[in-house]
Amino acid sequence: MTIAVVMGVSGSGKTTVAAGLASQEGWILLEGDKFHPAANVAKMAAGLPLTDDDRWPWLRAIAARADEVRAAGQSAAIACSALKRAYRDILIGDRPDAVLVYLCGSKSVIAGRVAVRTGHFMPPALLDSQFATLEEPGPDENPIIVDIGDTPTAEVEEAIRQLKARETTESGHRVFATYPSLYGRVVLVTGGASGIGAEDVTQFARQGANVAFLDIDDTAASRLIETLRQEGLPQPLYLSCDLKDIPALQAAIAEISRLLGAITVLVNNAANDQRHAFEDVTVEFWDERMATNLRHQFFAIQAVAPGMRAAGGGSIINFGSISWHASQGGMAAYTTAKAGVEGLTKGMARDLGVHGIRVNCIIPGWIMTQRQIDQWLTPEAEENLLRAQCLKTKLVPADVAGMVLWLASDDSRMCTSQLWIVDGGQL
Ligand SMILES: NC(=O)c1ccc[n+]([C@@H]2O[C@H](COP(=O)([O-])OP(=O)(O)OC[C@H]3O[C@@H](n4cnc5c(N)ncnc54)[C@H](O)[C@@H]3O)[C@@H](O)[C@H]2O)c1
Repeated sequence: MTIAVVMGVSGSGKTTVAAGLASQEGWILLEGDKFHPAANVAKMAAGLPLTDDDRWPWLRAIAARADEVRAAGQSAAIACSALKRAYRDILIGDRPDAVLVYLCGSKSVIAGRVAVRTGHFMPPALLDSQFATLEEPGPDENPIIVDIGDTPTAEVEEAIRQLKARETTESGHRVFATYPSLYGRVVLVTGGASGIGAEDVTQFARQGANVAFLDIDDTAASRLIETLRQEGLPQPLYLSCDLKDIPALQAAIAEISRLLGAITVLVNNAANDQRHAFEDVTVEFWDERMATNLRHQFFAIQAVAPGMRAAGGGSIINFGSISWHASQGGMAAYTTAKAGVEGLTKGMARDLGVHGIRVNCIIPGWIMTQRQIDQWLTPEAEENLLRAQCLKTKLVPADVAGMVLWLASDDSRMCTSQLWIVDGGQL
């Protein structure tokens, strides 16, 4: 489901682009102006600008209709000026499937369009007030920006291109490449019940891989399995396993191999980045953090290696972290373990390369999993993040999963012993 709010000043072509989106994607078209109460229409026809008090009921009526569309499991394109942030907060709000499409153009381009337009109730003289009111969407609103001035067809195509290229939410998904080499491949994802691991499990399942995952969070695991079932995907194999318990990990890997065949893709994903003050760290806590964030990666590699070797090769993907590269404090045991993951990657790539087994490390930046959003994302932190990143968009698990799929596939067959940073250009 997608609710695309096509915004811009009068004359920017909202209705044309929204109608194009709706017809090409098979969505419902909602013309925002049709939701105006009669009093608003009369005011605009008389050349009087609307006040915010005029607008609130109008915007709420559009949002209510959009929610009806969502509840029916449908998608819609909404043409609505949505000039102020406060208006967009009503239309977009925290709806995870709503996206802003901003038609951006200079006053002179738009003035030219309005001048030739007929049959519209907005007199061109109101353009000045439109531009005075316009608050352009900021990076935190994550808008799709379409520069106007091209043909309407090209503008619709550009909006669709950007929509397709972007993650929507858990309820929708971007189009990934298909890797024929992943079809039927036996894949193990550790910590696959939630966060980035769950996205990896989902994407491997969509590739037709034979997926198994380990976790301690049985509730999240059941939720994921149900989501995949509803999508009509084959059920992944889930084994509950505390990765701190190495004999249990070894037994789980033996069981997966018995049930599915040799594991030829291992994603060493599980970790816990709980913050800790260095003054409070005890020997027991330190060892526990190493067991949670580093030790199991080695023992999982050790356990899958014979099967991969017998199968003629495999791909192992270890998860590091940008945090220690960026001198992040407040979790010394985690950052130390994550630095160790890179050493593990390089050392094992040398030992296993002779058997055709590749070992790579993905280093994520700040990825907006639900846990990260709940625990650490504040407006200030978000502002700092977007300032630090070259790309001014927050990363989501799918951004990492794209790299995981490629490293797992034969398309990366000669890449090993490398560190792959996925951070929007933060480092
Ligand atoms: N999300 C980020 O911003 C970010 C940034 C840098 C690196 N990373 C790395 O990416 C990987 C995935 O991150 P995430 O944010 O999705 O993590 P997460 O904490 O959201 O999920 C980790 C998963 O591992 C499971 N897990 C934790 N301890 C376990 C144990 N002892 N036994 C079995 N399962 C266990 C959890 O239940 C959870 O399902 C991790 O290695 C993390 O360090 C994430």
